[in-house]
Amino acid sequence: MTSINPGKKAAGERATEYIQSGMIVGLGTGSTAFWAIEKIGKMVMEGLQITAVATSVTSEEQAEKLHIPLISFAELDHIDVDIDGADEVDENMNLIKGGGGALLREKIIASSSKEMIVVVDESKMVETLGKFPLPAEVIPFGWEMTFRKLQSFGCTPVLRKKNQEVFVTDNGNYIIDCSFGSIPSPGDLQSQLNNIPGVVENGLFTNICSTVIVGYADGSTKVIS
Ligand code: 5RP
Repeated sequence: MTSINPGKKAAGERATEYIQSGMIVGLGTGSTAFWAIEKIGKMVMEGLQITAVATSVTSEEQAEKLHIPLISFAELDHIDVDIDGADEVDENMNLIKGGGGALLREKIIASSSKEMIVVVDESKMVETLGKFPLPAEVIPFGWEMTFRKLQSFGCTPVLRKKNQEVFVTDNGNYIIDCSFGSIPSPGDLQSQLNNIPGVVENGLFTNICSTVIVGYADGSTKVIS
């Protein structure tokens, strides 16, 4: 990490107040969830007894370093609380996620949690979703056709690359980032895009998030429920 964003740090740390001993906790992905995981690591060292499930290989590695006890998704029947970041949050707590490429595991874990707490800095709060390109995770087979089908929804799609190579998710898939500019009906678009054969999941999270914690540059936070 290069420089610390105080809003992200404050939001991530504040979310850990929702964790109690005995809970199963979902660990999100990204530079805001990072701070929640760091704080959970300290709390575990001080005696907090939880088990956690990670939304990405990166978060799993961070948790392992901090000696946070991890459980595999296969061993779980529920998750108590999931703490994760977002790329955009609208007034109805609909989200765009997947900027870090972990949207599929993030959605599986969020939708299996009793509570999803989203941690963001104030720059992520928007009136209408869509300025941030919506990530869609797609199967590599026939991705060119899937790309064209996504385009037919009126967006400008781009195959995600990292260091000039095609970006591959933890699940072995590709990401197509779809610039819509504005997404007035996120719930409808979420299901329509998932109906395209080849799309595994997209980064619209509607009716999943129950609490948003916004962090500000002065280190203060606001909770929206
Ligand atoms: C990863 C995500 C992240 O939560 C999202 O990109 C926000 O990241 P950050 O907290 O670094 O701004 O969805 O897939």
